[in-house]
Amino acid sequence: MQNSTAIKENMLDNTVNIEKAKKMEVFEPRIIGFLCNWCSYAGADKAGAAQKPYSPNVSVIKVMCSGRIDPQFILEAFKKGADGVMILACHPGDCHYKEGNYRAVQRHRLLLRLLKQFGIEEERCRFDYVSAGEGDRFVSVINETVEAVKKLGPLKI
Ligand code: FES
Repeated sequence: MQNSTAIKENMLDNTVNIEKAKKMEVFEPRIIGFLCNWCSYAGADKAGAAQKPYSPNVSVIKVMCSGRIDPQFILEAFKKGADGVMILACHPGDCHYKEGNYRAVQRHRLLLRLLKQFGIEEERCRFDYVSAGEGDRFVSVINETVEAVKKLGPLKI
């Protein structure tokens, strides 16, 4: 049989655990998605036109080409409170500016190394390819990224 102090401590522990669980439950990551106008943004449109549901956690910024995305944009997004960032580009060989997506993927690799030094997990910064016809793929990439960032929890820098 427990004494009253032990019972109070148990109740307090339970309350703290419930509060932690509530905080974990309500965590909705803020994710910034940089989408190429010619492919991924059109893919997002396709998903929207087909009324495919996907996570609302991603705020989209349309760029004319993934090659336009300066790594500074991504660092700034994290600095201003994003929990994750996505870069969605045309598939290899499909960039309307020939090699913008090749530059973007190279920059992304370098950026991941830099982010690691700041303690930012690579799952928080996803690079992927989505074409204009890939509405389903767009939905999968968005949902996978949101789930991955949810598992990591809020970014603390
Ligand atoms: S035009 Fe889409 S990545 Fe360059």
